[in-house]
Amino acid sequence: MPAIAIIGAQWGDEGKGKATDLLGNRVDYVVKFNGGNNAGHTVVIGDQKYALHLLPSGILTPGCTPVIGNGVVVDLAVLFEEIDGLEARGVDTSLLKVSANAHVIADYNRSLDKVTERFLGSRRIGTTGRGIGPTYADKMNRVGIPIQDIFDEKILTQKVEGVLELKNQILTKIYNRRSATVEQTVEELLAFAERLHPMVCDTGLLLNQALDRGETVLLEAGQATLLDVDHGTYPFVTSSSATAGGACTGSGIPPMRMDQVIGIVKAYTTRVGEGPFPTELSDDFGEHLRKVGAEYGTTTGRPRRCGWYDSVIARYAARVNGVTDFVLTKLDVLTGLEKVPVCVAYDVNGVRHDEMPVNQSDFHHAVPIYEDFPGWWEDISAAKTFEDLPKNAKDYVLAVEKMSGARISAIGVGPDRDATIVVHELI
Ligand code: GDP
Ligand code: IMO
Ligand code: MG
Repeated sequence: MPAIAIIGAQWGDEGKGKATDLLGNRVDYVVKFNGGNNAGHTVVIGDQKYALHLLPSGILTPGCTPVIGNGVVVDLAVLFEEIDGLEARGVDTSLLKVSANAHVIADYNRSLDKVTERFLGSRRIGTTGRGIGPTYADKMNRVGIPIQDIFDEKILTQKVEGVLELKNQILTKIYNRRSATVEQTVEELLAFAERLHPMVCDTGLLLNQALDRGETVLLEAGQATLLDVDHGTYPFVTSSSATAGGACTGSGIPPMRMDQVIGIVKAYTTRVGEGPFPTELSDDFGEHLRKVGAEYGTTTGRPRRCGWYDSVIARYAARVNGVTDFVLTKLDVLTGLEKVPVCVAYDVNGVRHDEMPVNQSDFHHAVPIYEDFPGWWEDISAAKTFEDLPKNAKDYVLAVEKMSGARISAIGVGPDRDATIVVHELI
């Protein structure tokens, strides 16, 4: 049996959590492979709504083993807050496994994330302020703290001493902040060691052995293709690999074992934070999409920027990730519009671009070339099959599919787990 990746095809918040949850009862493991508590995945099951940040959405499926992979950065306080919150609501979290090689987010990195943004001023990224960027930077710089180190106080203390020599210079001399102390940092991390210890293992070994036994592993991305540190709209990106390649490095599962990549794509586009966004709407239509789609960040509560569907970035995501199936989400939000425009290409200084411009300056100047599709007024939230959709909604889906580089295998028509039209069985 295969490993399957679920990735975001736009700038995040496409509905990855709902899609992962939907497939939860068909898979044995759900793995978060990148990012940290910058993510916010909302899952609605009946009258219950869950907002997950650090835990993979598979945690909501009884019997499915949730795994935090080596590519994740872990805020330990948030991890246990989330576990306790779910346990209090009757969710069993006892199967959770955490990679010994995932890095921890220490307090100095949360401080540095926030203060760096303040110093950047108008050049800020609009980060979630969770310490994600500085923690990945430490990992690359080889001064990070892998989870395994918190079980050895001597090694932990040595590493914290080493990293604080540098961090405290930056905190105090550049940013005029208080320095962090070795004792307090070590104490804060050690506080979680006992509870964490039984969950920690070689998750790469665990997952590969599961695949050897014929079990199914679902890899759930945080963030999305256009926020990927390599393939996104740099520097307005997150600091991890959110694409299909990252699913391998962030989990320890080799590429040949992954035979399906499910791209989650919203029927329009949203973005949180700064950075270019060609189809962004600053008019009443943008406000309409925000209101009807409830487009406010799950993590920071910030209003999401909204715009029309952009087939150029969908094609790009299909290519970068090798998308085999798209899940088109939130089609219901487009109900009630006279016409629904779709961006088919960009005009950059008089030159037509059918593919993503390689140069970020060109992308900043990209003007969408739209094709308009007639809208529909019928309520589609109870549709169970593709045939149940009104003709104009069907035509919109078929047109978007043709432009986006992979088949659309499922369509979201509401937030609930059941509000999904399955066109081709996903697993
Ligand atoms: P993620 O970060 O990709 O998991 O997405 P978020 O959970 O941050 O944002 C997606 C939002 O849309 C959540 O509030 C979901 O409950 C909701 N949602 C997902 N699919 C659908 C859909 O098909 N229709 C509607 N109306 N809402 C949806
Ligand atoms: P999910 O998994 C949308 C954005 C932030 C900011 C940039 C960098 O719910 O789709 P960071 O804190 O990661 O250094 O911020 O990335 N961002 C997200 N936007 N959905 C997310 O996650 C995001 N995670 C980070 O708004 O622009
Ligand atoms: Mg989200």
